Amino acid sequence: MAAGTRVDVLVIGGGIIGLAVAWRAAQRGVGRVLVVDPDPGGGAARVAAGMLAPVTELQYGEEPLLRLGMASNERYADFAADLAEASGGADTGYRRCGTLAVALDSDDREELRELHAFHRRLGLDSQWLTGREARKLEPMLAPGVRGGLHVAEDHQVDGRRLLAALERACEAAGVLVHRTGAAELLVEHDRAVGARLTTGEVVTAGRTVLAAGPYSHRLPGLPPGVLPAIRPVKGQILRLHIPEPYRPFLSRNVRAVVRGQHLYLVPRENGELVIGATSEEQGYDTTVTAGGVYELLRDAHNLVPGITELPLVETSAGLRPGSPDNAPLLGPTALPGLVAATGHYRNGVLLTPVTADLLAEYLVTGTVPALAEPFSPTRFTTKVPA
Ligand code: GLY
Repeated sequence: MAAGTRVDVLVIGGGIIGLAVAWRAAQRGVGRVLVVDPDPGGGAARVAAGMLAPVTELQYGEEPLLRLGMASNERYADFAADLAEASGGADTGYRRCGTLAVALDSDDREELRELHAFHRRLGLDSQWLTGREARKLEPMLAPGVRGGLHVAEDHQVDGRRLLAALERACEAAGVLVHRTGAAELLVEHDRAVGARLTTGEVVTAGRTVLAAGPYSHRLPGLPPGVLPAIRPVKGQILRLHIPEPYRPFLSRNVRAVVRGQHLYLVPRENGELVIGATSEEQGYDTTVTAGGVYELLRDAHNLVPGITELPLVETSAGLRPGSPDNAPLLGPTALPGLVAATGHYRNGVLLTPVTADLLAEYLVTGTVPALAEPFSPTRFTTKVPA
């Protein structure tokens, strides 16, 4: 790339969010789009289980996030189909399988009943099951399971395949992807005008989209107060293999809250079984620890004892990008020319379609769509640049 390259949209960060925004924006004719990332297709989605669970992951007080999650979930089938077409037939592993949340003891059962009541108040589709009914749906569940919630509309996708499909779709749409980092945001006359890359090259851009997950606020040159700190929340995760004779080991996502931690088992049609995830706030460390693996296996074994028969294929860890209110930052920031698509915390894979659509809409029309308004990055602005 020659020094002084000019693009219409520069996307800093080529994880699932950056690639999806770049692809959708290019599809909608925003002009020349460049993504910069030293490791495109990486980030948390490469590690994530890919559970699309706006209902079973619902937390009290997060109703606006629920609406965004539901909107994204509803778009997923079309998003996956568009992506398959745009990438020459790539399979994203999108699977409409539903999710079963189960309780392992009477305390869990009370909590799950509360969640069910909350679902009903919000008009969400979830069905209460006795332990016996839950085991009928999933015979590998432990005999001690005390009850469950069946949510037919919480599904799954394969984050790794989705990333690969997005890279191909970006290429087909003419998006440039460069394996280099952004060294500094360039600001002129109180406006973001692009970035200097780690290679020393300068890219000027009409709009710069910051989609660098937990590194977003650390970009040198970013004026203070424009973005809050996006904290890294480590998740350790396991991948097991279900040999043919054991299939279907599980037919849908299975989850529980064990000792306050979300535990989930996501079975894929290709025989992969993903078990996640720890939640650790310890900075930018992605070490897989014996303790993390032990806890996941111990808790998953309590839920589905048969997992101990399966080969353990991979252990990994990723960093969820957590904003101060755990909701994403979507749209224009207080610094003209700088747009944020970051802070998706536990919901990056789920929120990819809606984030890409909302950001593309804003980049093309200059208007923030109503669905994005509650997630304006300016809700955290502490000082408007002078
Ligand atoms: N959404 C699952 C997780 O963040 O672990």
